[in-house]
Amino acid sequence: MARLVVVSNRVGIPDGTARAGGLEVAIRPALKKRGGVWFGWSGKVAEGTPGPAKTVTQDKVDYVTVDLPQDDYDEFYNGFANRVLWPILHYRLDLAEFTRRDLGGYFRVNQFFADNLEKLLRPDDIIWVHDYHLMPLAQILRERGHKNRLGFFLHIPCPPPEILTGLPNHERVVAGLCGYDLVGFQTENDANNFSRYLANEVGLKRASDTGFRYEDRVVEVGIFPVGVETEPFERMARRAAASQFVSKVMASMAGRALIIGVDRLDYSKGIPERLHAFERFLGNFQEWRGLVTYLQITPTSRTDIREYADIGRLVGEAVGRINGTFGEASWTPLRYINKAHSRTALAGLYRSARVGLVTPLRDGMNLVAKEFTAAQDPDDPGVLVLSRFAGAARECGAALLVNPYDSEGVAIAINRALDMPIEERRMRHQANFATLVKNDLGHWAERFLGLLDGEASSAAAAGFAEPMPRRAAR
Ligand code: UDP
Ligand code: G6P
Repeated sequence: MARLVVVSNRVGIPDGTARAGGLEVAIRPALKKRGGVWFGWSGKVAEGTPGPAKTVTQDKVDYVTVDLPQDDYDEFYNGFANRVLWPILHYRLDLAEFTRRDLGGYFRVNQFFADNLEKLLRPDDIIWVHDYHLMPLAQILRERGHKNRLGFFLHIPCPPPEILTGLPNHERVVAGLCGYDLVGFQTENDANNFSRYLANEVGLKRASDTGFRYEDRVVEVGIFPVGVETEPFERMARRAAASQFVSKVMASMAGRALIIGVDRLDYSKGIPERLHAFERFLGNFQEWRGLVTYLQITPTSRTDIREYADIGRLVGEAVGRINGTFGEASWTPLRYINKAHSRTALAGLYRSARVGLVTPLRDGMNLVAKEFTAAQDPDDPGVLVLSRFAGAARECGAALLVNPYDSEGVAIAINRALDMPIEERRMRHQANFATLVKNDLGHWAERFLGLLDGEASSAAAAGFAEPMPRRAAR
């Protein structure tokens, strides 16, 4: 089997720190199973010129990381990647702050990644690049003569061409994905949007239902919804629910029902809108006052970017207002925490919760939704209230699907979740859980790599581009 080289900006260096972010969570187990190399940014900013790449080896995986100089951190990470690509790919053209300087930084860092990657590449390595930070990497490697199989997976949404073309220089950035042999997306919607872009904006001709002719190659476009390790996560949640940490949290609830939300502090997650919905819930369903506690765990993210600081302020104000308006000396309706928690601790909390609130305005997949589902006790499961704009809604259609912009609708869904009879809770949970077992994390990596390196079992290959089942919500 060829060696696997994974490339992503964020690398899951095994240092025992709790960090939030779905990409890292998805890649780590997939890579650990097959072994290989994981190359990317160390998360550190170098003073002056960065030194050579550093390697840590653990469980058959070489983690190779480089520091970024301050200019690259500003222009590439905080600049083009997170101030332009992130908002636009999340349908927020209004938040994009484009500068030519940042675009230059983006290409410069992609060249820098290629320089470092070249030093460790072997001719028959399979290269799997992840996410929006590294869209041009394949073309750079090809221009330098590398002939490896190159795959790309986008963890975040891909909007329609009408939005993609709002990105200045999209011809260089988005069309740059044609350098890959296989480009994977989370949902059918994302893959269709990209295919429309290739056909209408880049003018590519179809080679098949899923492939496009580009120069002397075919670019395959596929759907690979990222999963979680469903059954192991359930076992972990069972153990964690009995841990000292979770027991202490639950004791502090004094018998009140736990509503939980877990998100990076990011405007795509719809946290202010969700808080507004919780406020409506407390206003409209007064019988629940004093009987529920909403715990919102929200590690800060990308703190040097103004929009992220703004959302932090907005959320802080809303928390103060809600607790001030509805709180009692003996009851705090909302607990808001910025500290990252380990996934084990989160698993135990999910299992102890009556309601999971996952209401992003737009999300590629949302692994929290899947982890919440996986963590439940099948005999007495909590209820997932899920945004229809999360990729996870395709596979978790038996959740209470909501429109996150409709705060009254979300308030009604919270009430419905808390009131839901046990039989209905079990039925909904069983349906979602079964889908997540079928399409777990191992399946995601196996299908993608099977198609990329042609060593797929025929069953995995047959699943290519197959849309996930849609389930009726109610
Ligand atoms: N997460 C974590 N600790 C936290 C908050 C989140 O480990 O305090 C994990 C969470 O369990 C999930 C991932 O970070 O696996 C978040 O992934 P998701 O797809 O929900 O959102 P993203 O942050 O990637 O946009
Ligand atoms: C999302 C993105 C990832 C990113 C993660 C955390 O999951 O898809 O690419 O790594 O958020 O964000 P950060 O900027 O801290 O890496």
